[in-house]
Amino acid sequence: MKTQRLIVDNNVNKIQAYTQAVEKLNAGEVVAFPTETVYGLGAIATDEQAVAKIFEAKGRPSDNPLIVHFGEAKQISDYVSDIPEKAKACIDAFWPGPLTLILHTKANVFAPNVTAGLQTVGVRIPDHPVAIELLQMLGQPVAAPSANRSGKPSPTTALHVEKDLSGRIPLILDGGATGIGLESTVVDFTVDPPVILRPGGVTANMLSDVIGEVIEPDMAKVDDQTTPRAPGMKYTHYAPDAPVYLIQPNREAIDNALKQIHMNQQKVALLAPDDFQHAEADWFFSLGNQQNSDDSAHRLYAHLRACDETEADIVLVTVPEKTGVGAAIYNRLEKAANGNWWLS
Ligand code: TXA
Ligand code: MG
Repeated sequence: MKTQRLIVDNNVNKIQAYTQAVEKLNAGEVVAFPTETVYGLGAIATDEQAVAKIFEAKGRPSDNPLIVHFGEAKQISDYVSDIPEKAKACIDAFWPGPLTLILHTKANVFAPNVTAGLQTVGVRIPDHPVAIELLQMLGQPVAAPSANRSGKPSPTTALHVEKDLSGRIPLILDGGATGIGLESTVVDFTVDPPVILRPGGVTANMLSDVIGEVIEPDMAKVDDQTTPRAPGMKYTHYAPDAPVYLIQPNREAIDNALKQIHMNQQKVALLAPDDFQHAEADWFFSLGNQQNSDDSAHRLYAHLRACDETEADIVLVTVPEKTGVGAAIYNRLEKAANGNWWLS
């Protein structure tokens, strides 16, 4: 299959690109498109065969449900059975935006593979002009996971999508680099108080300002069979080819780690804030200013992907503080490293 990438940058291209994307989706094909978080790979959420093509293109396990994207908030009442007051308050406060709400679905409204057989569904309205235009023109809900091969970091540019899925999907709408760079916050509103299943751009503090108590489970333990969870969080994620090790942002610890790695005749890529730029690192990827976690989030996946273009045997990444968006970065890094820390 030939993969076409259409740049959506001026009015002429735009109309053509959206028309083509809508035609493809209506014909039961998948289309990649930008959102404010990461690129998504979409199919009409009521079309089981089209949704199956998402799982196939990504190599995604079928027990991992998809997020359904809407163009307008009023559409969701046709698909979910009751919307608790706290969910309504969050919809008002954060949509369009990087918040996915887990709600009870009405029976038989989505293709069964969208929800992986669950009675609940994740829904959101993305805050990106290309996504919104596409969704509104189509007028139907679109199931879309991140547009990467399963296990790889989510794509923050159309070129990342092309790299992973070229030859596997017919069309990519290229709207440039995404803004936030990490996937949406996923919150389960089928329980009270609501539970954060995946941290993201909408932080725990932002949520509690609107609805009071929210439960933030220890994300490292979210895979416990006993914890309510986003099924996807148990799989390998966000990982470059070389093994990732976490390290505290501490000069001495980094010095020692680099020395040890070199003593083992290995090459290392270091991802760290500017302050930790290191002459001994074989490759250095800046996570920006240590105080600015939005900037780190925006850069992170592109850098993890760029490690695959190096000959690094080991990827060493400093962790941020777990506050604000830092909590989401920390969570993704723990997954990328499979929980491994560099121990000197
Ligand atoms: O920002 C985002 O959320 C991006 C863009 C494209 O919207 N999408 C995204 O989708 O990250 P995906 O499929 O890569 O991640 C969806 C996460 C998974 O961890 C999945 O297990 C969880 O949401 N999820 C989906 N439906 C769920 C449900 N009914 N109950 C619990 N978790 C659910
Ligand atoms: Mg994903």
